Amino acid sequence: MSSSIIRSQEQHKVFVASSDDSKICVVMVGLPARGKSLIAGKAMRYLAWVGIPAKVFNVGTYRRSNTPQPQATFFDPHNEEGERMRRAAAEMAVTDMINWFHDDKSKGVVAILDATNSTKERRKWIYERCRDADIETLFVESICDDEELIMNNILEVKTDSPDYQGQDPELAALDFRKRILNYEKAYETIDDNEKHYTYVKLINVGSTVIINQIKDYLSSRLVYYIQNLHIKPRSIWLSRHGESEYNLTGKIGGDSNISERGEAYARALPDLLRKSGIPPNTKIVIWTSTLRRTIQTARHLKAETGFEKLEWKALDELDSGVCDGLTYEQIAEKYPDDFKARDDDKYNYRYRGGESYRDVVIRLEPIIMELERSENVIIVTHQAVLRCIYAYFMNVPQEKSPWMEVPLHTLIKLTPRAYGTQETRFKADIPAVSTWRGKGTSAKHQEFPADKEEKTH
Ligand code: SIN
Repeated sequence: MSSSIIRSQEQHKVFVASSDDSKICVVMVGLPARGKSLIAGKAMRYLAWVGIPAKVFNVGTYRRSNTPQPQATFFDPHNEEGERMRRAAAEMAVTDMINWFHDDKSKGVVAILDATNSTKERRKWIYERCRDADIETLFVESICDDEELIMNNILEVKTDSPDYQGQDPELAALDFRKRILNYEKAYETIDDNEKHYTYVKLINVGSTVIINQIKDYLSSRLVYYIQNLHIKPRSIWLSRHGESEYNLTGKIGGDSNISERGEAYARALPDLLRKSGIPPNTKIVIWTSTLRRTIQTARHLKAETGFEKLEWKALDELDSGVCDGLTYEQIAEKYPDDFKARDDDKYNYRYRGGESYRDVVIRLEPIIMELERSENVIIVTHQAVLRCIYAYFMNVPQEKSPWMEVPLHTLIKLTPRAYGTQETRFKADIPAVSTWRGKGTSAKHQEFPADKEEKTH
């Protein structure tokens, strides 16, 4: 085993150990259409991305197992049968969650209970169930009276929610509004009588944040993440730099210029972005690394749109240390043990004098925080960095993310929604080499044909 690997594993231990041993149940609180599921999904992806086992338990999913498409009256607090069924769904979710925490296989550290949990009685019951099972609770209440945001969430529910699948969208929106009114009848915000709980209140998408009684490191880290979130609709666009001179010769790293075809991609990028669909009057901020190839790729985009541009050192390519400037064939020849060690565990392998994917994820954490605070952003960066950012948004497991194919001259549009991130890819009609290397090969960079095909996953 090479020394680089040993170093990586030591660092891995430190990183995971810093999440301490406490088990935490994040209890979402709030009326429907307040972005709870969006926040729950994001928190789960963030935790998985930094290596903390996390899972969302959605009470609506449990309720659907016996009441798949209830009408608004089901949620009326005076509907006894509805109350009984909803309580049963919460019971099932909490029991499964506690079992998950105690299951040796899942090694659960953070569970997110995604439900309205809108009464004091319900919160007390969850708190006591968790306390009796040695699980800390962190209540996260999302309060929102911004009509436009609520409306946006309602629109999303009527098209995406399994509760309304196959139904007339207008009737669905109407019913969902009635459901919200029913919840309002019984809703109790977290107040001073619940001061003994650890909680965060997010008022109008984080414009005011109230934090109470944070006790441990993991909770404070989570709260820091959650307080940076907003639930406004927006998209993130990701692009690698245009083909570079190093790409043409199969070398990794360096700070080369873009090739002629890379320049053609840079010229095509503003149009590609427009074609990807930008709502009217939308401002997009352009982020690049500090390396020439990304700055050159974003040059025409900046000039044509006048959008603000920021350069981030943290977006620079994974540092390949002593292998910088070599081809994969040369690395396999000069450092065969390292080459194999990287294939065996690409996520944790750290180049001699350089970085691992895990290192890149750590240095990207402030970028993710800033991204969560921001609205529309286009990021022009590098293969490894893009893989890490993509993995965060699309919940790609650590062992898979370093092997993902992210072709050159392709714009990826990601739109976070309550029920998952929507992805669309737009390929420019400009050929480029393929820089993707399969496990166990030292394949030279190869041509891949340009096509205009648009893929949605
Ligand atoms: C649901 O049944 O959709 C959710 C139940 C709740 O969170 O109140």
